[in-house]
Amino acid sequence: MQEKIDALQAEVLAAIQAAENPAALEEVRVAYLSRNGQVPALLAGMKDVPKEERPIVGKRINELKSAVEAAFDGRKSALEDAAGEGGDHDPTLPGRMPPHGTLHPVLALRDRCIAIFRRLGYALAEGPDIDTEWHNFDALNTPADHPARNEQDTFYLDETGLDSLPPLEPAGEGPAPALGRRLLRTHTSTVQIRTMLRQKPPVRIIAPGRCYRRDEIDATHLMSFTQCEGLAVDEGVSLADMKGTLEFFFRELLGPDIVIRFRPHFFPFTEPSFEFDISRPGQTIKGKQWLELGGCGMVDPEVLIAVGIDPEQYTGWAFGFGLERLPLVLHAIPDIRAFVENDVRFLQQLG
Ligand code: PHE
Repeated sequence: MQEKIDALQAEVLAAIQAAENPAALEEVRVAYLSRNGQVPALLAGMKDVPKEERPIVGKRINELKSAVEAAFDGRKSALEDAAGEGGDHDPTLPGRMPPHGTLHPVLALRDRCIAIFRRLGYALAEGPDIDTEWHNFDALNTPADHPARNEQDTFYLDETGLDSLPPLEPAGEGPAPALGRRLLRTHTSTVQIRTMLRQKPPVRIIAPGRCYRRDEIDATHLMSFTQCEGLAVDEGVSLADMKGTLEFFFRELLGPDIVIRFRPHFFPFTEPSFEFDISRPGQTIKGKQWLELGGCGMVDPEVLIAVGIDPEQYTGWAFGFGLERLPLVLHAIPDIRAFVENDVRFLQQLG
């Protein structure tokens, strides 16, 4: 029996190596390994083996089976590889595209805003998401008892055990201001302050970025959103510059038929202040003619004083608007949370 097994093993291994193509290899498999093949036949022969020898013979047959199966698999992949290199491979087929992402709709809008303002000579400016009470409120002429400063509306950082903030370089005359607590900025107007501390007029900047407000999260609210801020300060800058620039901007962005209207409003850091809405004649959004977008106004003299700029010599205007609103209504997206869920099925539709 032992010799018979050895001989069969040698025979099968030789036959496997000799198979020149998958079809020939399959014939070998059927001849030796299939149900009626010679290897199972060996097992059937076990009944003639004396009882004492059975364990040894059984073990030997199992060794043969593993050796044959390994040789078979090895030959099979060798034949497939050889086919891949020459035979079946068609090098003229188009390649497989790896999946790749798309620009997020909010970032796509941000980039277009930057590009339009860049043509008007505005530079891109940035500020940190974590800022101070002074940059976010005091320097922007927002009094200590203003409701927005409330812990119910603003995220303050818990700084127990951290070093206190380093003092700010004094901007104008007098002592350096107290910076107060650290917070997540509630608007990008902080970048007005940071820019004017570094750079004296003429200043023309656009500053998109993330802002944070304490809000119940639902289909129309997140605790974080994106704003785009703009600021122009120079000699002789007037309200007419503000109106003309914003009008030009929204027409470049959305089309020449867009109209913009300004409604008197109040912001602590601009005077006069306005909210602005846009509209496309003959078109309504959710039954409304006007889409409220943001705030703007002439930079309050107190803000210029806080950053050491003489309000007798210079005037400026500023605006800020949210970047989620426009893509939400333009694409009729029912739930603002889609913007932060990172679902590629959503993003690919707008890419
Ligand atoms: N910072 C204001 C807001 O978040 C918008 C604004 C910016 C208003 C600049 C006037 C000037 O609502």
